[in-house]
Amino acid sequence: MGKLSGKTALVTGGGRGIGRGISERLGRDGALVAVHYGNDEAAAKETVRTIEAEGGRAFAFRTELGVPGDAEALWAAFDEQIARYDERGGLDILVNNAGVLASGAIDQIDEAAYDRVFAINTKAPFFIIKHGLTRLRDNGRIINVSSGVTKVAIPDVIAYSATKGALDTLTFTLAQGLGARGITVNAVAPGTIETDANPWVKDPEGRKQIAAVSVFNRVGRPADIGDAVAFLASDDARWITAEVIDVSGGSALGI
Ligand SMILES: NC(=O)c1ccc[n+]([C@@H]2O[C@H](COP(=O)([O-])OP(=O)(O)OC[C@H]3O[C@@H](n4cnc5c(N)ncnc54)[C@H](OP(=O)(O)O)[C@@H]3O)[C@@H](O)[C@H]2O)c1
Repeated sequence: MGKLSGKTALVTGGGRGIGRGISERLGRDGALVAVHYGNDEAAAKETVRTIEAEGGRAFAFRTELGVPGDAEALWAAFDEQIARYDERGGLDILVNNAGVLASGAIDQIDEAAYDRVFAINTKAPFFIIKHGLTRLRDNGRIINVSSGVTKVAIPDVIAYSATKGALDTLTFTLAQGLGARGITVNAVAPGTIETDANPWVKDPEGRKQIAAVSVFNRVGRPADIGDAVAFLASDDARWITAEVIDVSGGSALGI
């Protein structure tokens, strides 16, 4: 029996990168994992296969985020799939992980780029939570994937950083409202993690530079985030809410 046996988790963007690290760990802990994806069906199916190969249960489902009606479409697709696995429907753990980077300083970001990054990173989680509250059981968990860039100023990713700052405020404010139902709302804030979003970590020089930002002198891995999310999802974290947990390997601590 894993710590999450009998629980259902939904991980947005759960098929690859950090989302895969989260999906796999929650699956290993015994949760039935709903692996949401936007485009990359092969990656999502591969994640499901890995979870099943380790004795877990998972399914993949697709919806595009960042478009009108995205949250309702996500829940409609989830409801249809979950009915095949659990007659209760609903879920216990919602992880808002899907996100995109928008590079560019304030003089380079145009309105379309700004709207898109906010639509995917901030508006989608807001409405996924809004429409998910009737499905999320009491004593459930909401975990949002934020970023260390809300604490370390990087002008070249200013719009992206602002999307994550808004997510932190959403986390904090929701926690106040949902406490009466025993639901905790937290965020994790990774530093640079080795995923498709950071292709420069494949370059030896870029990798060395990024590693040096952490006190542990290595680049973060999806499993580093998955393990922290699994803790927040577990009963061990029942007394923790409204927190943004830094999971950056002590990035940018010194000057
Ligand atoms: N990597 C880092 O260094 C880092 C650091 C701090 C925070 N984060 C945050 O961590 C989260 C995951 O990042 P990552 O590095 O793992 O990114 P990634 O490898 O690029 O994966 C992004 C995930 O989000 C999904 N997604 C993106 N846009 C979508 C859309 N419009 N509709 C539906 N799904 C969409 C993708 O689905 P498909 O697989 O179907 O394409 C994919 O699963 C993001 O919120 C990111 O901001 C990342």
